[in-house]
This record gives sequence, structure tokens and C-alpha cells, in this order.
Amino acid sequence: MARILITSAIPYINGIKHLGNLVGSQLPADLTARYLRARGHEVMFICATDEHGTPAELAAAKAGKPVEQYCAEMHEVQKELGAGFRLSFDHFGRSSSLRNRALTQHFAGRLADAGLIAEVSEKQVYSHADARFLPDRYIEGTCPNCGYDKARGDQCENCTKQLDPTDLINPRSAISGSTDLEIRETKHLYLRQSALKGQLRDWILSKTKPDADGNPAWPVLTTSIALKWLDDGEGLQDRGITRDLYWGVPVKKGTEDWPGMEGKVFYVWFDAPIEYIAATAEWADAQGLPDAAWQRWWRTDKGAADVRYIEFMGKDNVPFHTLSFPATILGANHDGAEPWKLVDYIKSFNYLNYDGGQFSTSQGRGVFMDQALSILPADYWRWWLLSHAPESSDSEFTWENFQASVNKDLADVLGNFVSRITKFCRSKFGEVVPEGGAPGPREAALIDELTTRIRAYEANMEAMEVRKAAAELRAIWVAGNEYLQSAAPWTVVKTDPEAAAAMVRLSLNLTRLYAVLSAPFIPDAAASTMAAMGCDDWTWPTDIAAALTLLPPGHAFTVPEVLFRKITDEERADWQARFSGVRT
Ligand code: 2FM
Ligand code: ZN
Repeated sequence: MARILITSAIPYINGIKHLGNLVGSQLPADLTARYLRARGHEVMFICATDEHGTPAELAAAKAGKPVEQYCAEMHEVQKELGAGFRLSFDHFGRSSSLRNRALTQHFAGRLADAGLIAEVSEKQVYSHADARFLPDRYIEGTCPNCGYDKARGDQCENCTKQLDPTDLINPRSAISGSTDLEIRETKHLYLRQSALKGQLRDWILSKTKPDADGNPAWPVLTTSIALKWLDDGEGLQDRGITRDLYWGVPVKKGTEDWPGMEGKVFYVWFDAPIEYIAATAEWADAQGLPDAAWQRWWRTDKGAADVRYIEFMGKDNVPFHTLSFPATILGANHDGAEPWKLVDYIKSFNYLNYDGGQFSTSQGRGVFMDQALSILPADYWRWWLLSHAPESSDSEFTWENFQASVNKDLADVLGNFVSRITKFCRSKFGEVVPEGGAPGPREAALIDELTTRIRAYEANMEAMEVRKAAAELRAIWVAGNEYLQSAAPWTVVKTDPEAAAAMVRLSLNLTRLYAVLSAPFIPDAAASTMAAMGCDDWTWPTDIAAALTLLPPGHAFTVPEVLFRKITDEERADWQARFSGVRT
């Protein structure tokens, strides 16, 4: 049994997330957390809302609410939606928590002690019309790297380049649209991440191949983005980590004031990843546990040396997680006194597109989490999204494809198997596992195939190859269907009821096994299947033949409700039309 720490990129507070956000971090992280728990590992699965900075201030202003109130409300909304999608976080925290405030100030103090913070008088964009500085998302313009005309002052969404507001071509205020802007000098703190460049490069290069402990190489998507920002152009830039904003963690050096930094806050991207740690502390607080309980996940000198730490995120988040956050973690341990846990594996995702274009929060384009749950239960979405996760390239959601997957994989294959075998048993043998007969060569062949496929499924899950794991699970469902089709107990029963009973007994046991195997992908359907089988044994199967005799003859079950219904052409057309526009 291992100890595994899993974090999902923490979603911005500024509105309900779309399905592209969901499949880019929280959902695959949940899949992995569920699987690893099912295998008996001790898992800590952490997420939170990312509440500071310009995204929050802009959204609150738009909603006409004080930012504190807006964040508190939106946190609850996101938490509920996460629960609706069955995201099994151990804790869903808030980056505006007191824990994060204290830890962020603590890290800044440690970095200052290490000589890794510089006080820089820098040029900031000041807007006359708005009578304020315009950091990050308060300013928009054309990306100097790729020419995208809606790039923001902190990052270009299109090419992932990290930007400074003064880099933008044709800049305009995101508040008023004003172009009456001026460059003014103001003092800010910079994280001297360039001083750690060599250390970061060695570390990232070490992840381009499997390590001595048998850990796999990181996805090329992760390492290529990291190396690109390490070495491209002028290479790793020092980053401003403070802002002239109201809403954020007040700048302090540990618990002390920072002269000259009064009224300033830390940059949202400085405190956001620290929230992974803080949220684990929030979890301990909520459980009434002492600091040691969260530190054993995060401090290698306090029990975390054997923890494997996996992060999930979309590709636009990779530079911050491969460079800036590790710089914070490494820099804080300059004297060896605070060995914080560095990430072991970064699983990153490409983008999910929507029906011929991009999902977009700012433009309200696509299907958002609340809308999705209003038309179908979580499992339908979980299955489609995970089985089409944008791993090796961007992928696309279309309503046709969604309908086809749901109808074929979930209704025709898995749903059909469960419904057919339970109904047949009820009609011929009653609602109990029948006795008599013995498995023959056909059953042995099925068990062989299942064994091979289940081992492949496990390997893919362990490697976090989400699409491949989904394909293997589907193949495991298909094997059962094909077995049932060719064994045809409904025909055999007429001449050899004992042989039919053996087939049915095996298939009912396979139904239970499907619940265990499918739970990481479709937890609700798995739970209702397990309940219908009158069982609560979720033990992961090692010996497949043995697992298929777990429900003994005479064991009572019930025929479950329809597991998955089909999506009709009318529904598909209706939803397609309903979600073709812009969300208001
Ligand atoms: O891209 C985003 O949605 C960011 N809010 C992710 C932050 S992840 C982390 F650093 F905490
Ligand atoms: Zn760009």
C-alpha cells in the first residue's frame, strides 16, 4: 500500500466551469483518486477554488457584489457542482483561507531569506479612465507571440505564453475598454526564479525518462512546455509576484510587515499552488487533526518522504507548475530546514473543443457544469469526457459523438448486459443466484480474456492513460456481452437447465465485478449495480475466476432500474440548438 497525494488545478472562482475545464484536471484527477483508493492505497485528493486576483475582482464587479461575498457564494456553487459530478475530493478548499494567507506569507519570507526575492521598481500600466493600475486580466490586447487579439496581461490563452501587461500590442482596459493608458513606475517583488534555472532544468530533464524507482517519464506535453519556457528566447524570466490590487494575500515577510509593500497583495499565481498545501491543512483543521496530519503529506522530514505526488492540469497551467511553483518549493528549502514535497508526476491535458470552436468561459460558449447536470446525470458526462480526454491532442465534443457513445457504450453494451442477465434470471430462476451446473470451456475462455484485459486496464489506469483505460473497460464490457450472446442461456435452459444456471451464475457475478471495475469512471451506476446485486464487497479482483464466484448460489439480488437510457435524435437536436449560442 502506497501513499498518494493528488491535486487538481484549482479552478478560478469567476463563474461556473465548462466541460473543457472539467476534463482538463478535476475529472481525470478524480478517476485516478478513485482507482488508487480502490486498489487499497492511502489517497489524499485535494482541490480548491482559486479566489484571488483580477479574475475574481472582475467577476465580482460584473455581478455587482463585494468580492468577499461573491467568492463565498461561488465557492459553494462550485463545491456543489463538484459533488454533482461525484468528484471525490478529500477537501475542496479556498485559496482565500487563513491557512493559505499564512502559508503564502511564510513562503515569501523563506524566499526572501534565501535571497530569491528582488524588490524591483517596474513599469505598470495605469488607466486614466479607471484611475487605477491595470494588472494581469485588467488589461487586454494582442499577443506579441502569436497575434491572438484577446490576449490578457498575464497570459495568452491561445499560445500559453506568460505575458506582462506591458508586452501587449494595442492594449486596452478590460474594465472600461479605454486606451487612455500610461506606463507608471511602482515597486514590486520579483521571484528570482532564473537563479534556480539550472536546478529546474536538471529536475525537468530527469523527468523525460523513467527514473530508478520505476516511475514513468512525464507526458511529453508536460516536459516540452516546461523546457520551452526554460530555454526559449531569453529563457526563464523572473516574475513579479505582487500586485496593486485590493483582493489577495497582503504582502508580508512571514508574519512581519514588508516595508514599501503596504497595500499590495501577492499575485494570484503565487498563492494559488500554495493552496494545495493550505487546503490539506484546511482538511486537517476540518477533521480536528493536528498539523502533523497534513504535514505528513507535504514535508519530507515529517513523513512525506514516501508520498507520491501527482498533479493534474490543463496545458496552460504547465509553466506555473513546472517552473514557478517548484521554484517556490525549492527556494524555501535553501538551508535544508524546510523540505517541502516536490511533485513526482504531472499529468497535463490538451484542450477540449466544442462543436467546431473553442469552449470559452469569457464568451459563454459550450456546455457548463450546471447545464450538463440539468440534462443528464453525472455518469453520462463522466464516461464521454474521460473516454475522449484530450491527451495526445486536442479533442472535440460534438452532440452526435456524445449521443453515439452514450447509446453504444453505456446503454447497448454495459446497460444491456446487466438488464438482460438480471431479467432473464428473474424469469427463469427467480431473484437469487441459481445453483447447479459447472463452468465449461466457454467460461474458461471468458475468464482468460477478462484476466488479460483487466491487467491491461490496471496498467493503463496506473499510467494515467485515461482514454486507453476507458477503451479497455469498454472491451471488458463487450466481452461479457459477447459471452452472453454466444452462450445464450435462454436457449440452453430449455434442454439443459443446469448448464444455463452456471452461465447465469457467472454472469451475475460478472455484473458485480463490472460495478467494481467501472466505479472510477461511473460511480453512480456502479453503486446502484452493486446494491442491486445485494452486495457491498468492492474488493479489487486479483484472481478473476475467484472473483466470479463471490456471489454464491442462493444469494438474493434485485433487477436494477435502467442503468443508462438512450439519447434520442430529438433530444440531441434540441440540446444542440439550446447550447449553440452564448451563455448569458
Ligand atoms: O487556470 C486556472 O484555472 C487556474 N486557476 C489554475 C490554478 S492551479 C494552481 F496553481 F493552483
Ligand atoms: Zn499568444
